[in-house]
Amino acid sequence: MAGGVGVMIRDVVKAFTAGAGRLLVLDGVSLSCRPGEFVSVLGPSGAGKTTLLRLIAGLDRPQGGEVAIVDGSRRRLDRTAIRLGMVFQEPRLLPWASLFHNVRYGLQDRAKSMSRAERERAVQEALELLGLSGFSSYLPHQVSGGMAQRAALARALVSDPDLLLLDEPLGSLDVKNRLAVQDLLDGMAGRRSCIMVTQSIDEAVYLSDRIYILSERPASVVAEIEVSLPRPRDRLSAGFARCQRRVLEALGAAPRPRRPGPDLKVEG
Ligand SMILES: Nc1ncnc2c1ncn2[C@@H]1O[C@H](COP(=O)(O)OP(=O)(O)OP(=O)(O)O)[C@@H](O)[C@H]1O
Ligand SMILES: [Mg+2]
Repeated sequence: MAGGVGVMIRDVVKAFTAGAGRLLVLDGVSLSCRPGEFVSVLGPSGAGKTTLLRLIAGLDRPQGGEVAIVDGSRRRLDRTAIRLGMVFQEPRLLPWASLFHNVRYGLQDRAKSMSRAERERAVQEALELLGLSGFSSYLPHQVSGGMAQRAALARALVSDPDLLLLDEPLGSLDVKNRLAVQDLLDGMAGRRSCIMVTQSIDEAVYLSDRIYILSERPASVVAEIEVSLPRPRDRLSAGFARCQRRVLEALGAAPRPRRPGPDLKVEG
C-alpha cells in the first residue's frame, strides 16, 4: 500500500473466560508501529504477547480500547484493504500439503492477479529466500522443526505483506539460519511494517526501531526503547551493548555489580 501501513493500539483490555473464572490478560496496553517501522515486543511468558498479535491480526477482539490499522496520515484502514502476513508461534503448516503448496497458500488474494508461471516463480523465490528450494515437494512431517518454521516465514512473505506479524518466528532455528533470517528481516527494514514478539534481546536490538517491554500479566507496557543505531548493526559495538543493557534493565534482569564479600572470597 502506497504510504505504508501502521498500527495504533490504545488502552487495550483483553480478558478470557475459561473454566470458572475470568482471566485479565491485557490491562491498558498502548503501543504503535509507524509505517515501515520494525517493532519488537518482549515480556514474560503468559503476559499476553500472542494475544496482542491476534488482536492486531483481527483474529480476536478486545473488550476495551482500540486496535487500529492506519495509513501514514493515521487514517483508519480496513484490514481487508491491506496485505497481512503472520507467522504463528508454531509453524501451523497444512500437514497434507507440500512446502510448495503451503507457501502457495500464503499468496492469498495476490494469486488472483498472477499467471500460473508468476505464482510458481513467487513461491520458488520465497522458498529460495529461506533456503528451502531443495525441499519444495517435502511434506511438513518430512522436514525439521527449523525448516518448518522457515517455511512458515516463506508463507508469510510470499504475499509481499504491508504488515508482518511475527510470533517468536526464529525460536527453533540453529545459529547460522537464525543469523541469516535476521539479516533477511533487516534487509526489509523501512520497506514494510513489522511487529515481532521475541524472547531474544540480541534479536530485538539487532532488528528493531522500537522495543516495547510488557509487564507480567495482566500486562501493560512498562518501557518503550528507541533503537537508533545505524543498520546493519554491529553486535560487538558499545552502542549495541548499551542498548541490550537498557532492555535488560527494563525487564528487571540486568546483572548487578558484584561486591566482594565473604561469600565470594576465594581461598587458596
Ligand atoms: N482462548 C483463550 N482462552 C482462555 N485463555 C486464554 C486464551 N488464549 C490465551 N489465554 C490465556 O492468556 C494468557 C496469555 O496467553 P498468551 O499466549 O498471549 O501469552 P504469551 O505472552 O504469548 O506467552 P508465551 O511467551 O508463553 O508464548 C495465558 O494465561 C493464557 O492461558
Ligand atoms: Mg506466545
